[in-house]
Amino acid sequence: MLVRRSRVAVAFVLACAFYLFHRALSSGSGPMGSGFAIPRDTRIQYPFREKGINARDAKKAEAVKEVMKRTWKLYKEKAWGFDEIKPVSGKYRNSRNGWGATIIDSMTTTAIMGLTDAFADQYDWVVNRVDFNKAEGLVDPFETTIRYLGALVSTVDLLEAGIISPPSPSFRRNILKQAKTLADNLGPGFDTPTGMIWPRINFTEARGMDMYGRRHQHAIVHLARAGSHWLEYSTLSHLTGDKTYLDNSTKAWDCLVSNKRGVPWPGILESPRSIWTGLPVGTTRTLGAPDDSHYEYLIKAHLLAPKSSTNNYARRWYQAMTSAQKHLSSAAKSQTNPHTFLLSYSKDRYENNMGHLTCFIGGNILLGAKYLSQSSLFSFGEALIEGCHHSYASMPSKIGPESWSWMPRESHLRPPHFPGPVTLSQREMYEKTGIWATATNYNLRPEVVESYFYGWRITGEEKYRRWAWEAFEAIVKATETEWGYSEVDDVTRVRKEGNLRDTSESFWSAETLKYLYLIFEDPELCSLDEWVFNTEAHPLKRRL
Ligand SMILES: *[C@@H]1O[C@H](CO)[C@@H](O)[C@H](O)[C@H]1NC(C)=O
Ligand SMILES: *[C@@H]1O[C@H](CO)[C@@H](O)[C@H](O)[C@H]1NC(C)=O
Repeated sequence: MLVRRSRVAVAFVLACAFYLFHRALSSGSGPMGSGFAIPRDTRIQYPFREKGINARDAKKAEAVKEVMKRTWKLYKEKAWGFDEIKPVSGKYRNSRNGWGATIIDSMTTTAIMGLTDAFADQYDWVVNRVDFNKAEGLVDPFETTIRYLGALVSTVDLLEAGIISPPSPSFRRNILKQAKTLADNLGPGFDTPTGMIWPRINFTEARGMDMYGRRHQHAIVHLARAGSHWLEYSTLSHLTGDKTYLDNSTKAWDCLVSNKRGVPWPGILESPRSIWTGLPVGTTRTLGAPDDSHYEYLIKAHLLAPKSSTNNYARRWYQAMTSAQKHLSSAAKSQTNPHTFLLSYSKDRYENNMGHLTCFIGGNILLGAKYLSQSSLFSFGEALIEGCHHSYASMPSKIGPESWSWMPRESHLRPPHFPGPVTLSQREMYEKTGIWATATNYNLRPEVVESYFYGWRITGEEKYRRWAWEAFEAIVKATETEWGYSEVDDVTRVRKEGNLRDTSESFWSAETLKYLYLIFEDPELCSLDEWVFNTEAHPLKRRL
């Protein structure tokens, strides 16, 4: 009996191996190596309901919503129609071409939180007031696409999913009309030999420009800018039936995604690139800014539209993350700090410095590794989130700094001696926590709570909610002002006086508060099995 059973088991294992081998081949594994196959119907979110877990914490969700209401009320009172409020002085400023960035970028947050009065104001602004044919200053297609266009197409998706009730019967048509106007005005940006996008556009001239408004053949673009329009453009094409957006966006990203030149670390590209040739003109290899969302969007493109995006995006993502695990992962040497961080690399040297912006990556790795059933990658993602949590827990304010350093344990890296802490306070912090801040400000950024959101929704582990609540309380305490919430200068100080920057970018309400709210709300709201978040936290409906 026993013998027979084990024979059956052996036959079964062989059959499985045979099947997986063929599936890997048929999905074109090529340089991927073994173990990569695109699954058909993986559940991404933890099955809270099946496990009988009531995963909604109404009190904490309500507390986050109150902060959003206060943010909105004060913005409306003091800065209506301008891009941002200045939260210390109660003045305002335009930083995003004067189209009312805070109004439009936070539409999907008010929709998700059910703040219907605020949403009605926003709708009126988009449909009746804003003029996307005129721009104050040069237009940055990257920021415009992720904030403005992302918000508009996401709003239509949220409407169609029944998350917002339409303020008027012509709601869908009116929003899409504005989205199209904006995207059409960005169109000249794609006018390059490679199709890669110019870093700026002059709307008056309807021409692509470099960052300083000049037009020449040496213009460069960083990886994030080159591809972080695919989710938004693909959705706009889907909603309007006009394929031009998807085609332009696919072409603009293609010379990176299907880069045929050999690279030393598969999937990881050197940056920046020439928009004229698509070739690298710099030598930086990093998953952090300004290349970050190139990597973020590779897996998200596949998740958004698995049928129309080809498997190439997911494959590139898997290559890049596997390479990062091999070449950029670094364990800290200190006893007080057993954590994992990400190096970057440039000109044959590693840099032992990591930014708050890079902390999106832990969550992004959990998302892709869960979907592709890659358990080693998954653990790597968890470790990176732990490291980012350590950057928060180490600071006296309990908020992580804009960037920090550690001493790498790996001995084979160049340079053989990494720069250590310099100032007295850096040395003290290093003694205590194993890291030291290299830029001490906090800009109301979302990336750390964003990764907690993925951690919670995918693993169901309570620690992520606990960390999110600790971050929320610390952030409100340090940043609250008379007129809103402000960037802070120095997270290593607890005293508030003289520590505020009088700046509050639109991602505070678009991203930071949205991710915090969704962590405490019912996990079925914007479930990761149905939605993909763009890099500004605007949810787009997956087209499965
Ligand atoms: C855009 O081009 C127009 C016409 O050439 C020029 O007057 C204007 O200064 C440019 N705008 C910016 C922000 O450079
Ligand atoms: C598409 O790209 C072409 C350049 O190849 C550009 O002229 C056109 O305006 C773009 N259209 C849109 C909608 O992006």
